[in-house]
Amino acid sequence: MAVEVTFCMIKPNSVKNKNVGAILSHLEKEGFCFLKIQQMKLTPSFCKSFYQEHKDREFFSALIDFITSGPVLALALSRENACMHLREVMGATDPAKAKPSTIRSLFGQNVEQNAIHGSDSLQSASRELALFFPEEKF
Ligand code: RTP
Ligand code: MG
Repeated sequence: MAVEVTFCMIKPNSVKNKNVGAILSHLEKEGFCFLKIQQMKLTPSFCKSFYQEHKDREFFSALIDFITSGPVLALALSRENACMHLREVMGATDPAKAKPSTIRSLFGQNVEQNAIHGSDSLQSASRELALFFPEEKF
């Protein structure tokens, strides 16, 4: 299988609850390499662009408020099959429905404050990596 680079974001609730170290350790044990890690405080307009696919959903403004409520960690992760493997390791969007031992099951509070984001395709990964790290070539 091909080595890929995907985008990951550790969400504000994980930073607030001091779960960053545990989540990074979980990712490292899953074989991901950290090509880039950067703590950032995102603006509403940046988040609206990042989550543009959800702009017409009823949860959109709450989602923007949540993602801008505190710092996040933006990561470029590499591994074989990185994109789909990260989605598996994260678990379902709703932590209550996520498989046991997945990151969202362990560290998510609810369907919105679900601890972590991972790109859902290689096409999304390349868009999201370019948005967060415009100066880098991965
Ligand atoms: P993500 O994009 O953050 O990796 O999550 P995902 O693919 O599993 O889920 P997606 O449908 O793309 O939703 C994006 C994020 O929006 C928030 N959300 N809130 N209140 C709600 O019903 C609701 N549904 C989704 C979550 O933070 C979700 O991760
Ligand atoms: Mg998504």
